[in-house]
Amino acid sequence: MHLRCSNTECRATLDLHDRALSCPVCTELLEVVIDPPTSTPAELRRTWLQRRCSYDPRDLSGVWRFREFLPNAHSEIVTLGEGNCPLLEGRKTARWAGLRNLRFKHLGWNPTACFKDLGMTVGVTEALLVGAKVIGCASTGNTSGSLAAYAARAGLYARVYLPAGQVSTNKLAQAVDFGAEIVHVAGNFDVALERLLNEARNGLYFLNSINPFRLEGQKTAMFEMLEQLGWQAPDYIVVPGGNLGNSSAFGKALEELHAAGFLNRLPRLVIVQAEGANPLAKLWRSGAVTLTPTEAPETAATAIRIGNPRSWKKALRAVRQTNGFVMDVSDQAIAEAKTVIGRDGIGCEPASATTLAALRQLAEQGQIDRDAAVVAILTGHALKDTDFILNSRLREPALEGVCCA
Ligand code: F0G
Repeated sequence: MHLRCSNTECRATLDLHDRALSCPVCTELLEVVIDPPTSTPAELRRTWLQRRCSYDPRDLSGVWRFREFLPNAHSEIVTLGEGNCPLLEGRKTARWAGLRNLRFKHLGWNPTACFKDLGMTVGVTEALLVGAKVIGCASTGNTSGSLAAYAARAGLYARVYLPAGQVSTNKLAQAVDFGAEIVHVAGNFDVALERLLNEARNGLYFLNSINPFRLEGQKTAMFEMLEQLGWQAPDYIVVPGGNLGNSSAFGKALEELHAAGFLNRLPRLVIVQAEGANPLAKLWRSGAVTLTPTEAPETAATAIRIGNPRSWKKALRAVRQTNGFVMDVSDQAIAEAKTVIGRDGIGCEPASATTLAALRQLAEQGQIDRDAAVVAILTGHALKDTDFILNSRLREPALEGVCCA
């Protein structure tokens, strides 16, 4: 296994453990190249299922259980038993969206209550391997909580850069609880990330999703979801988009599984952004070839209040390869969708509800078949942003008729 430039016209290669943040030749992002597995899909599917009966920490992790597709699987891993997240149906949500075959893959079931743990177990394992002492990230909140937890497990020092006053109290509390040093940056996430990138060049190990090891772990959400569906790909996978690492990871997973013979067709990947932080959706609509960052991103879904997503090229490639698309939804639609998800007893944070908001819109406009098999990715737990819930002015009357069983 090695690192490779994600730019198909460059394809420079680097050692797997090179700490470069981008390609030294063309500056594009790097990716991990996985050696094709030596076992057949049928053999691997059986092995992965058998591991669910094992108490080996690598098997108890819903990430490392799929280690044939991961780097560093033979080293000492840093794990909190991440993954193992349910695929849930919701009667009210399906009815509200107007879909008959809708499920939620709820990644808020992870140890720090969001999908970041899937990537952090692999990223922090790599940080230990290369001898890092200090690890860091910029964050709208979730990455910082996850990084802090895995740093604590690994005995590493964590420093997180947060946009001052723009992170939910619940997420901030997690980072404090796990002992991270908090750097409050005047400005938004994009400013915080820029600031951290300068520090990363001074020895800090960088763990935003530009780090390709993070994406390797996040890939496994697709493996687990497909296993739960008996390896029958759904028609659509709908995912919220912020910095666009997760959608890039999902694209890589689908590409690898398809190439290895696990899937005979690719599900269509749909990325959903918030209207006020929608640079990729704008690019998609306009047909532009380069991304114009949103100068002052604004949305109540603070997790995805990002104007300059770093992984946009990888995410765009994933959308194109799967014949998917990119769209955006209003904050009002997000709030409504979040309320309906709650009424199904599931609960998620606002950014996750972009998925249901988008699906309702697509079904209403006839852009999606009502019988299509759809998996919406819920990225974070409801308790990640309790202020949003308590301050929401949306109550039952606004949803009358759709919310009652
Ligand atoms: N949903 C939640 C709950 C998130 O926290 C994030 C990103 C996303 C969706 C978007 O994922 O960036 O991979 O496209 N949160 C980052 C953070 C930026 O710092 O916690 P993405």
